Amino acid sequence: MDVLLLALAVAAALYGVMYLVCVRATWCKSKRTLHGKTVIVTGGNAGIGKTTAVDLARRGARVILACRNKQRAEAAVCDIIKESGSNQVVYMQLDLASLQSVRSFAETFLKQESRLDILINNAALHIHGRTEDGFGMIFGVNHIVEINMSPSIKTVRAIRTELARSSLPIIKILNRPIIFLFFKDPVAGAQTTLHCALQEGIEPLSGCYFDNCTVMDLKANARDDATAKKLWEISERFCGLA
Ligand SMILES: NC(=O)c1ccc[n+]([C@@H]2O[C@H](COP(=O)([O-])OP(=O)(O)OC[C@H]3O[C@@H](n4cnc5c(N)ncnc54)[C@H](OP(=O)(O)O)[C@@H]3O)[C@@H](O)[C@H]2O)c1
Repeated sequence: MDVLLLALAVAAALYGVMYLVCVRATWCKSKRTLHGKTVIVTGGNAGIGKTTAVDLARRGARVILACRNKQRAEAAVCDIIKESGSNQVVYMQLDLASLQSVRSFAETFLKQESRLDILINNAALHIHGRTEDGFGMIFGVNHIVEINMSPSIKTVRAIRTELARSSLPIIKILNRPIIFLFFKDPVAGAQTTLHCALQEGIEPLSGCYFDNCTVMDLKANARDDATAKKLWEISERFCGLA
């Protein structure tokens, strides 16, 4: 009995430590309101993007969900309107796996909207395949047109979303208890995005890598200006901008 109690106490203590390290979120503290402001959230129909969109709509922003799937996006618009109490939420078609779609999204946006105050490049995926333009899917969608939200999980903070939806069903089932115990929910997971979008006074930190609302150190190769410049130039060329 004593051994069992000791084992339970050790397990509880270990979970406490893991909770503090992996699950506990630092909250976005900004009270900023966004009446009269326009925001784009790419991939705003699911996961962190959807939670972010609800928060921004509650603050009064006009929120544009830039999404690839009309049905999923329209369902999300209804949910967000219901949850936020704002009817300033609209869907615009955008498939980041197609540069043609990116260009026509930009044209439609410029025709229909008079301003853009916040752009949240949130959409991403983790599946194999090729984009319409022949790039590897992850490189094309997550990097070429989406570089703001890091797809890399620096520490063990994978957030409970649909990002791993392409995993084998058995893996999903086996992962469920781990995800439940050790992963943040999307509201906690959206806090860093909200902090970066809303917090006044952090403008000098533009371009830094944030995790849990805090600037993090980058590995040496991610701080290499020559590599960053080369990647930027190659990316511009691949997009047909240079
Ligand atoms: N979850 C994590 O643990 C974690 C950790 C670190 C960073 N992140 C980053 O957080 C961001 C949001 O991820 P999430 O976890 O919320 O994932 P998610 O639940 O899978 O949501 C991803 C969103 O991106 C959209 N998307 C995917 N491919 C697209 C395309 N070609 N064109 C337009 N939209 C597309 C999806 O649309 P559909 O619904 O149509 O597929 C969905 O709305 C990503 O940038 C991810 O890298 C997540």
